[in-house]
Amino acid sequence: MVAETRVHPAQLVLPVFVQDGISSPVAISSMPGVERHSIDSLPSLMATATAAGIGGVMLFGVPREDDKDATGSHALRPDGILNRALSVARREAGDRLVVMADTCLDEYTDHGHCGVLDAAGRVDNDATVGLYVEQAIVQATAGADVVSPSGMMDGQVAAIRNGLDGAGFTDVAILAYAVKYASAFYGPFREAVASSLQGDRRSYQQDPANRREGALEARLDEAQGADLVMVKPAGYYLDVLADVAAQSSVPVAAYQVSGEYAMIAAAAQRGWLDGPEALAESVTAIARAGADVILTYAALELAGRWQA
Ligand code: PBG
Repeated sequence: MVAETRVHPAQLVLPVFVQDGISSPVAISSMPGVERHSIDSLPSLMATATAAGIGGVMLFGVPREDDKDATGSHALRPDGILNRALSVARREAGDRLVVMADTCLDEYTDHGHCGVLDAAGRVDNDATVGLYVEQAIVQATAGADVVSPSGMMDGQVAAIRNGLDGAGFTDVAILAYAVKYASAFYGPFREAVASSLQGDRRSYQQDPANRREGALEARLDEAQGADLVMVKPAGYYLDVLADVAAQSSVPVAAYQVSGEYAMIAAAAQRGWLDGPEALAESVTAIARAGADVILTYAALELAGRWQA
């Protein structure tokens, strides 16, 4: 009766990996219970997600290795893996689920960075933003309700908003990865998407030591027209999440990332933790800190637990 926080299934978003060139789902060894889906297995997953009553899905594309190149051009092809997956998901979702697209190039570049590189090998912010705008328009055309720039380039939200509006997609929303730390907890994700990254993303993601900078990044994205702002990772950044929730005029999302999930799942496999309890506790804590929307690989299981 007096619980201050209750998580509703509609607040949960399931991240989904869709891989090109496979016919049935493939397990991801570092994320027990999570699979890469094929285009063919996506409709049944969408049906499961709809029945679970979750709020939406966030789709990531995993291209064939030989489709990667220096500029991530596969991401801009209407017949690219993510864009095909978005149209299948949109068709299956009806009015019941929000279909979100990861708007970033890292899955498609042969160097694994989130953008294109300049002559000195550094990520070129402005050239990358131009590609994100094109990518967002292709994703909206494919059926994305929400595009989700996750590459942490400066100015990406305003540019995408202008681009979408100019192309007639005034009602496609932007979920901005506003606050995104350069985190070791993305490790399993990089296996999940077969990332080619060598090195790190510290020149464009944030320093885990910085709290005020998180609130600043969220304000900048809100001013640029973000419809939701996200904090990522979630569980180790509850202070930042609470700051952002306190100042934000738009809904706040938080992403319980692959490493946060994998730690619990791995310990549960060994019998060292009660997996369902630990997952429920961790997601409740993220909601308690102020998240309106939570992306978690455990969305389906937790929706079952919290169904009204
Ligand atoms: C970038 C992106 C990443 C994640 C989501 N979008 C990886 C990164 O920044 O290296 C990580 C998600 C997770 O770890 O679950 N497209």
